[in-house]
Amino acid sequence: MFLALETSCDETAAALCSLEGHILGSRLHSQIAIHRQYGGVVPEVASRNHITKLRPLVEAVLDEAGVCLSEVQAFAATCGPGLVSSLLMGASMAKALAVAQNKPFLAINHMEAHLLSPFIGRGGVTPALGLIVSGGHTLLVTLHGTGQYELLGSTRDDAAGEALDKIARMIGLPYPGGPEIERAARGGNPQAFDFPRSRFADAPFDFSYSGLKTSVLYELPKIDLKNPATLADLCASVQDAVIDPLIDKAILAARQSGQQVIAISGGVSCNQRLRQKFFEAGAAHGIMAIFAAPHLCTDNAGMVAYTAVQRFKAGLRSPLAQEVDPNWSLVAA
Ligand code: KG4
Ligand code: ZN
Repeated sequence: MFLALETSCDETAAALCSLEGHILGSRLHSQIAIHRQYGGVVPEVASRNHITKLRPLVEAVLDEAGVCLSEVQAFAATCGPGLVSSLLMGASMAKALAVAQNKPFLAINHMEAHLLSPFIGRGGVTPALGLIVSGGHTLLVTLHGTGQYELLGSTRDDAAGEALDKIARMIGLPYPGGPEIERAARGGNPQAFDFPRSRFADAPFDFSYSGLKTSVLYELPKIDLKNPATLADLCASVQDAVIDPLIDKAILAARQSGQQVIAISGGVSCNQRLRQKFFEAGAAHGIMAIFAAPHLCTDNAGMVAYTAVQRFKAGLRSPLAQEVDPNWSLVAA
């Protein structure tokens, strides 16, 4: 089995995955409550918390699976992209464990871990169109197999989750904004506000959310957010304006490239409205939309451990000297 650590941002996590791809234990310590008071993640605070939480989490995950350190076949850690001071914590500990146990080390790209997460519990990785919608990235890729990815499109400004987080902040909802907007949108009319959907003639698979943010900003002085029905209408309209381009572009890309499966991952893929709309749009075109379980969509170490196993099986290894890279690109992974 493989032990993986995830400390790319504000979640400290450890998990064990079997060679068959089953998550045998997974533990996470969320720092959301700490960073919420600042309205976002404070890097220095995040890395200090990772240091104190990593060791107890590793011990807890080994206990949960009933295994000892010497039974671990390889150690892995997220090495980018992310906050460099956070990445260093998990990567240093995984490397130290690998050296001490004389076992291989695998450096894992956080976006690759998100990308492969919908395959957890479905056996190995199969060709698909991949859509990653997280707090920092919106990426549309062709997934030919483990380690073989082709970039089709990405965001030109904010990521989908980032747009939700920023709009939530504008309307007085706490961080992280995605789940708050989903909650506030319940019962709201998604057509109440006519917010823009990005479209680029020269790059049909690129995304943009800056126009949406500006439209919401102009709308705010005209409405009463203290009225719960108005807030619900606004959030439902924002939610669809974020979701609709994701679905339209992913379905178009899948149809053009003949992919029958779309694997959707990243924190925003927890969103129930996004899931429901993807299932409906997929069914209309004979395309299957697959998602990870919600706890594997937001940052976690299970997806990192699973990715380490897939890469190991594909014969991919990392040198112990591999440095963390805050801007590590998925396609160069
Ligand atoms: O993948 P993730 O946990 O971290 C990154 O790698 O960025 O994604 C976090 C993002 C945040 O922007 C958060 O607002 C969003 O995922 N998110 C959601 C939901 N849950 C988390 N967005 C919409 N609906 C949700 N239920
Ligand atoms: Zn993430």
